[in-house]
Amino acid sequence: MTSFASAAHKEVMSEEPQTSGSQPQPQTAGSQTRDALVEEIARRAGVRAERGRRFAELTSLRVGGEIDWLLVPETEEQAAAVVGLLEEAELPWRVLGAGSNVLADDREHRYVVVSTREVKGRAEFDGERVSVSAGFSLPRLCVEAARQGLSGIEGLGGIPGTVGGALWMNAGAYGHEIGQVVETVRVARGGRIVEVPGGEVQWDYRHTSFKEGELLLGCTLRLKPDDPEKIKGRMEEAKQKRFATQPHGARSAGCFFKNPPGSGLSTGKMIDEMGMKGVKKGGAVVSPVHANFIVTEGEGAQARDAYALAEEIRERFRREHGIELEYEVELWGAEPNQGEAKGDAEAFVGTKGAAGTGGEKQ
Ligand code: EPU
Repeated sequence: MTSFASAAHKEVMSEEPQTSGSQPQPQTAGSQTRDALVEEIARRAGVRAERGRRFAELTSLRVGGEIDWLLVPETEEQAAAVVGLLEEAELPWRVLGAGSNVLADDREHRYVVVSTREVKGRAEFDGERVSVSAGFSLPRLCVEAARQGLSGIEGLGGIPGTVGGALWMNAGAYGHEIGQVVETVRVARGGRIVEVPGGEVQWDYRHTSFKEGELLLGCTLRLKPDDPEKIKGRMEEAKQKRFATQPHGARSAGCFFKNPPGSGLSTGKMIDEMGMKGVKKGGAVVSPVHANFIVTEGEGAQARDAYALAEEIRERFRREHGIELEYEVELWGAEPNQGEAKGDAEAFVGTKGAAGTGGEKQ
């Protein structure tokens, strides 16, 4: 899941730090001022601040460079407060959930990453409703809902992400999409928690109308009562299908590209028919199991390998099918003003330069 603090740009704002309530610091104010500011914000919001973490340890593709600052709130209130303060200070930030849908470039990332992973709490069931925080594991929620005899999300049981990430992109599989069952979403605005009715959100195919600067904190879902055994049966069926058709245990970010919207076509099937299963670029490979998965292999795998391979697929797809594939994974550039929440290959300008590979953006 991703969200930027700025209205001016998806996920990112001005690079210039600014002390709250005072004049903007000159850009040369240096990282010390900025570091001190981040530390102060973390202290005020009561959240853990970590340095020296890498996207390679925090994303499922296991690639990506160092993170300037990682802030780790543990409650919805803390998360709302921390991004409120970051906004006030005009410090660029992005939100990372389980990191299972993100390709982050190899260089050092110069913005604050707010992790929702610890914003877990408990799933609170009340009749047909369940309220859950953004960092809660989606597969775990599906299992708990099934146990409670609540149906509507059992198709999503194999998606290895957080609830927040699922909401952000309207995750879907095997006939279920999370947006179909959302009653309200809790969003951070101005340092506070605001409830947005699900009906006011546009839930599209792997895309929503949530905007940058909207950190999703949690939601209430309204599910349908059904026999727990039947729900578990459907969940098991989806799991079996997934096991048979998608790589598991591999370092992937799920499907790399969207299916061509409204076409009924499967991107994976078409890449497979182009004979690209098993094609490698450095440490990145088109999965031999499902051709819409790029997996990384070995210690030396780099984000730029995965990106170069993705661009090669897009280039051939364009040539052979006249279709411009849209990224389903999010590409996170290293600079605060690069990379957009919902897949923008410009994010990888730096990577492209460094690697000397890659094509044009979507
Ligand atoms: N197929 C091939 N070769 C391949 C991949 C697929 O021949 O390499 C064939 C399959 O045999 C099947 C058809 O293509 O006949 C469709 O495949 P699949 O059922 O895997 O569906 P998909 O359209 O490729 C979508 C979602 C998946 C989701 C599945 C099941 C997208 C981009 N992908 O895949 O979502 O799990 O349906 O609902 O919408 C994801 O979002 O990350 C993701 C993996």
